[in-house]
Amino acid sequence: MEKEFKITFEAISNYDSLDDTEKKLFDAAKKIRENAYAAYSHFHVGCAILLENGEIITGSNQENAAYPSGLCAERTTIFWTAANFPDVKIKKLFVIGAPKDAVSSTPIPPCGACRQSILEYEAKQKEGIEIYFASLDGEIYKTRSIRDLLPFSFDSSYL
Ligand code: THU
Repeated sequence: MEKEFKITFEAISNYDSLDDTEKKLFDAAKKIRENAYAAYSHFHVGCAILLENGEIITGSNQENAAYPSGLCAERTTIFWTAANFPDVKIKKLFVIGAPKDAVSSTPIPPCGACRQSILEYEAKQKEGIEIYFASLDGEIYKTRSIRDLLPFSFDSSYL
């Protein structure tokens, strides 16, 4: 029998259609993207996390000459957040990626490893994290939970 997953996401047409909180997150992710250390890929990514206490935590991708030793913007940011605010819930995560000097409008989704890492904290806090992903321009995609980007997700319930 063939079965299906239903995945929903919202396509927000552009920056102007975001609400004030979302605009703050977009601006924060875009600004911290300028600090990306992407000496090898030249692909710059910024991430902004909104906590339930209203704080915004930001981070960017960090590369390494030994390539796998680098880390994506999303994990840089969520690990720092979890290390410093272990008991504060994460409400939203906004990621913006684009090649260093390119004009780009295709929403850049979190990679698989970042999805898995985000899932861990979503499961831990027992509440969904709204995920937004975008490029510098154009549409912004939003999901209600990382599970929408990770069907058949593996979590601690299987252990
Ligand atoms: N990258 C991120 O920061 N987040 C993602 O979800 C995808 C990829 C970074 C990793 C690397 O520094 C560069 O983008 C190219 O893969």
